[in-house]
Amino acid sequence: MNRCLNWLTIILVMIPFAVLVACEKEQVSSETEQTLPTYTKEADGSNEDPIKIGFSMDTLEEERWLKDKALFQEELEALGAEIEIMIANEDAALQIAQVETMISNGVDILVVVPYYTETTAAIVEKAHSAGVKVVSYDRIITNANVDLYVSFDNELVGAIQAEAITKLVPRGNYVYIGGSITDNNAILLKKGVFQVLEPYIDRGDIKIVYDQWTDDWNPDKAYQNMLEALEKNDNQIDAVIAGNDGTAGGVIRALEEKGLAGKIPVAGQDADLAAIQRIVHGTQTMTAYKPIRELARKAAELSVALAEGERVEVDSNINNGKIEVPSVLLSPIEVHKDNIEETIIADGFHSREEVYDSK
Ligand code: BGC
Repeated sequence: MNRCLNWLTIILVMIPFAVLVACEKEQVSSETEQTLPTYTKEADGSNEDPIKIGFSMDTLEEERWLKDKALFQEELEALGAEIEIMIANEDAALQIAQVETMISNGVDILVVVPYYTETTAAIVEKAHSAGVKVVSYDRIITNANVDLYVSFDNELVGAIQAEAITKLVPRGNYVYIGGSITDNNAILLKKGVFQVLEPYIDRGDIKIVYDQWTDDWNPDKAYQNMLEALEKNDNQIDAVIAGNDGTAGGVIRALEEKGLAGKIPVAGQDADLAAIQRIVHGTQTMTAYKPIRELARKAAELSVALAEGERVEVDSNINNGKIEVPSVLLSPIEVHKDNIEETIIADGFHSREEVYDSK
């Protein structure tokens, strides 16, 4: 009898308890359903997960790329986006592998500074098959369906170099120390330079006595090439146009060894601090200054817009061998010793102390 009572008590207590637990469970599961994160990117950018941008850089060798890295990150963060950065250190295969990693890490957009303009096309295919759009930053990726290109007008960079130097030296023996042949910018720069030089060459006023690419934009190689140019021409050189300030530095080192620095005009690009100091000291004539903040801002705004599925309006297209790539091309600015203050210093690109307090 007692045992029967015990069982009855257990049953009477357990049934309502079981009902209670079942109801709770039901409630929990319906709550869970309601709060499951739905990943939608709102047009106003108020999506729950921030946009994630993968930034694949070729190198940090030249001073400018450190600025690009910091400023692009700053601009993206100001827009509420996240960034993952990988540097390929001038290794085409590593760059592809790094991009694959970023795609599997779930980036929404890839922004790429290609090392090797041609082999990087594989990156675009891989990204597209994962539904990720690709923005070419500063250097274009050739023969690929690149979604957007943001850069400076590289032909114009070459043109302003040649215009500045021909103004000073309208006749004479010219040396061209180009950039790296693996970089499409090097080709565009040369095109811009030679478009300006052509009429002078045709008239016989200017003679190109040496013309060489510089592997990996390496200043030591530019130095070697400049020594070779001097030797081949018995030092009879009147002007030098170099692909960038790094290579111009190599050129000027060779000229210094021959006691010719400051006597032969030299053009570069990038407004590296060392180049601006050389301009102040008279061993370099000019540089094509590219305000990197503008590039970083434009690239950040447009990458986020692309990630949000917006239509991006641009005013030019660049043919990359496969398609007309929608492009934004910013303008370079000529900097020589008389306008450093209102360009480089006014923009905070380098401080007055850095520029003038050097030995
Ligand atoms: C960039 C230059 C840079 C060079 C070497 C080019 O693609 O436009 O600014 O100096 O690469 O890194």
